[in-house]
Amino acid sequence: MSRKGGAGKTTVAVNLTLAARAMGVRAVLADADPMRSACEVLRGREGSETLLFETSAAKLFALTQAAQRAGADLLIIDTPAAPEVDVAEAVKVADLCLAIARPTYIDLAAAVLSVAVIQRLGREGLIVLNQCAPQRNGVEPPQVLKALEALRFASLPVAAVTLRSRIVYQTAAAQARSVLEMENGGAAAREVRDLFSHVWRSLNGEATAPMRTANDDLRRAGLDLKLVPTA
Ligand SMILES: Nc1ncnc2c1ncn2[C@@H]1O[C@H](COP(=O)(O)OP(=O)(O)OP(=O)(O)O)[C@@H](O)[C@H]1O
Ligand SMILES: [Mg+2]
Repeated sequence: MSRKGGAGKTTVAVNLTLAARAMGVRAVLADADPMRSACEVLRGREGSETLLFETSAAKLFALTQAAQRAGADLLIIDTPAAPEVDVAEAVKVADLCLAIARPTYIDLAAAVLSVAVIQRLGREGLIVLNQCAPQRNGVEPPQVLKALEALRFASLPVAAVTLRSRIVYQTAAAQARSVLEMENGGAAAREVRDLFSHVWRSLNGEATAPMRTANDDLRRAGLDLKLVPTA
């Protein structure tokens, strides 16, 4: 979810679904965006009729039941940027909500709104930073550090995995494929696999590597700030 258009909801939803399947998890994708962007991306892909379901907010609960009955392990829902009432229906049926945000002031402000919805509905959530500039020599670019600093005020954890701005996300979408299918050994494939593993372990209540908090990054960057816990 993200109330900002273009944050990467569809890109993350499609890639997580395909990564899950590549890793042996029976995952299906619900396109709950009237724009049908996920359908647009996966149109023409072989087997898409068992992978992708067009739906609406009102039908989400029934879809989760049907997916369970059909033996799906995981249902991923791609939501529209608005209206909030529709997105809330997705939050209500979700075991874990991913708030997707670019490391920009406007996206982070939108992520704070998503956090508020997730908390109001008593659900679990994780902020996933997307379209971040790559690290240089293991050092986060200032924009990412600033985003993490801003997020320390949010009470949701930040995903341990940050997705970078990489052209392969766009070329993969144009070919109805995942970044794993484009460059299995590439950096984008690695980050999507890592994000999926992180999400899957969280969903299954397994101990995960400690979720990355803004605090960790700031400490690594040598910034000596008094920080509030994000978990
Ligand atoms: N990590 C990334 N690296 C490069 N390009 C990306 C990345 N994530 C998303 N994009 C590109 O950004 C654009 C917007 O992404 P996407 O459609 O997934 O966003 P969205 O949040 O679903 O948008 P909408 O609100 O319109 O549904 C697309 O062209 C997509 O290919
Ligand atoms: Mg979308």
